[in-house]
Amino acid sequence: MHAERGPLLRPILLVLVASSLALVALAANGAGAQQRTADAPPYLDQARPIAERVDDLLGRMSLDDKLGQMTLVDRSALGNQADVTTYRLGAVFNGGSSAPSPNHASSWADTIDSLQRSAEDTPLRIPLLYGVNAVHGHNGLWGATIFPHNIGLGASGDPELVAAISRATAEEMAGTGANWNFAPCLCVARDDRWGRTYESFGETPELVASMASAISGYQDGTPAVLATAKHYLGDGGTTGGVDQGDAALSEAELRAVHLPPFAAAVQRDVGSVMLSFSSWNGARLHAHRYLITDVLKDELAFRGFVVSDWAAVDRIDGASGLTAAEVRSAINAGLDMVMVPYDFRTFLGLLRTEVRAGRIPLQRIDDANRRILTQKFELGLFEQRQTDRRWTPTVGDAAHRDLARRAVRESIVLLRNDGGVLPLPRHAGKLFVAGRAADDIGIQSGGWTMSWQGGIGDITPGTTVLEAVRATVSPDTTVTYQRDGYGIDSSYRAAIAVVGETPYAEGRGDRRGTMSLDPADRAVLERLRAAGVPVVVVLISGRPLDIAAEVAQWDGLLAAWLPGTEGQGVADVLFGDHNPTGRLPLTWMADAAQQPINHGDGQEPLWPYGFGLNYPTDTVPAQTAPAQTVPAQNIPADTIPIGMAPGGADGGQPSSGNTFAASSSIAR
Ligand code: BGC
Ligand code: BGC
Repeated sequence: MHAERGPLLRPILLVLVASSLALVALAANGAGAQQRTADAPPYLDQARPIAERVDDLLGRMSLDDKLGQMTLVDRSALGNQADVTTYRLGAVFNGGSSAPSPNHASSWADTIDSLQRSAEDTPLRIPLLYGVNAVHGHNGLWGATIFPHNIGLGASGDPELVAAISRATAEEMAGTGANWNFAPCLCVARDDRWGRTYESFGETPELVASMASAISGYQDGTPAVLATAKHYLGDGGTTGGVDQGDAALSEAELRAVHLPPFAAAVQRDVGSVMLSFSSWNGARLHAHRYLITDVLKDELAFRGFVVSDWAAVDRIDGASGLTAAEVRSAINAGLDMVMVPYDFRTFLGLLRTEVRAGRIPLQRIDDANRRILTQKFELGLFEQRQTDRRWTPTVGDAAHRDLARRAVRESIVLLRNDGGVLPLPRHAGKLFVAGRAADDIGIQSGGWTMSWQGGIGDITPGTTVLEAVRATVSPDTTVTYQRDGYGIDSSYRAAIAVVGETPYAEGRGDRRGTMSLDPADRAVLERLRAAGVPVVVVLISGRPLDIAAEVAQWDGLLAAWLPGTEGQGVADVLFGDHNPTGRLPLTWMADAAQQPINHGDGQEPLWPYGFGLNYPTDTVPAQTAPAQTVPAQNIPADTIPIGMAPGGADGGQPSSGNTFAASSSIAR
């Protein structure tokens, strides 16, 4: 039997809190609270088994109540908050750019609480799910802790770290009233041209599946939030890495490469699964009865609910305008909740017509409702209807920022260390810092930060790499910063160049032609090199870039991925407070023309999957020697020896003894 989500203690605590607050609640809630009397219906009785509560509630629901539960609406589409009551809406969310305003934790909580009151005004008082895309921390919220994007966490090889980050994110979400996260993305990125590569933990099913630990972090603690495994299925396997494209794969390969993370998610009892915009051999996932019902629900025994992606039902027939046929094919394929996201009246009208005409069986509607309501009961939403504001002060707090800093340190991969230029000494005399990503929270955070596509500049509080360098060097060391690299001369001990990609999300991040550094970044690197001082490159990017032609001219190279707000973690590695332990979660191309390039496909990469150097142990304090972060379950028999850089010029210490999750060779 599945009990409520969260630890066992939770219901007891809730009862204690509830009884001591009962009088307050009665006074505050008026009519709503009066229903919690002895003759309250069974579904409102917390002591009863959840299955019984679901049955009781379902028996009281009208067709409109049921259709409303299947409807997920963007907050900005609610002309009037009473729409929640009128249309019996079951779930509201904010998309990448529709955060409550002003964008502060308390206004989020006020907004969501008020929506919950509108839901409580319906005859059956079914609480709302409120969804967010907290994909690297509660990233839509100003002041939240922004953790590294998944690609960096994949490099850490540390599922427990990932679970701890999800836990911290759940706390920050709970402090704003959001109870449902559209995360983790369990995509297996097979082609780095894909703009969502950074949302992936890596290119092998084993590595990604191990990070399903994120689900436990969200769901299995206090506070618990509902997790979403996305995007089912094959989003990272589309031809050419085209976002929302077509995965032209045999069923055997689809199952071997893309299914294992979802099987791991179901094992962790994930509450929801979001479908992928993409197609499999030309058939849209959103209408794929075999993959949704036969494979996910029947074969894997997924008992949560399936949610669609943004307006994806409307895209089934390729033409814009939601049709009855689209709604019918999606729901009959096994979709339980529709992210409309705007025109919910049209959607509800079409759905009602199809059900009344018998073209969507009532059984299917009941099954969808049973799945959704079960999750709401298990989350404890019927008992905790308003934001638990005890969590609000955790937003961006010191403990979470420390965890993020640790995650940054553990995610960094040392790719080159010619002549042992790294770690840099704190007593460096003069250091030069350049590059457009050096002093920019927006760039180092990437997409899905404060807005859908992310942004450049001071978009939220944090520590930039430049600030972190300044905070780390000795008082007698001078740090000179010139973004474009002008003014450097041979008097500097070293130059640190922080360069790479600027923020993007989804399809806008797809790369078609070159995967090189931007010409402006290359010009900065040229200026630094011309001064004749050692150049250390900190690469800020959501994926490997095509740098084979230039890398021999750099003395040091750290892949820092998209680290988020805690730039101090980068300085921790630069100055040797942490000996790098990160390993490549993706094969690093030797040429963009190799894409797609993956472990085991026989192509000769610049650096193989699992590659990462360490500092020689005598250059870092003993207590910071690398921890063995690769969990046992993550090491299959076939592991890659680390430290064999093709091209040979790397001066780092091969990290012998370190292994990384290497997949059984799956070639494309
Ligand atoms: C993305 C999803 C996201 C959803 C809601 C879609 O465009 O593909 O990952 O959860 O929007 O914002
Ligand atoms: C929203 C995103 C969504 C995207 C889909 C944006 O406007 O903010 O959440 O994923 O549209 O196209």
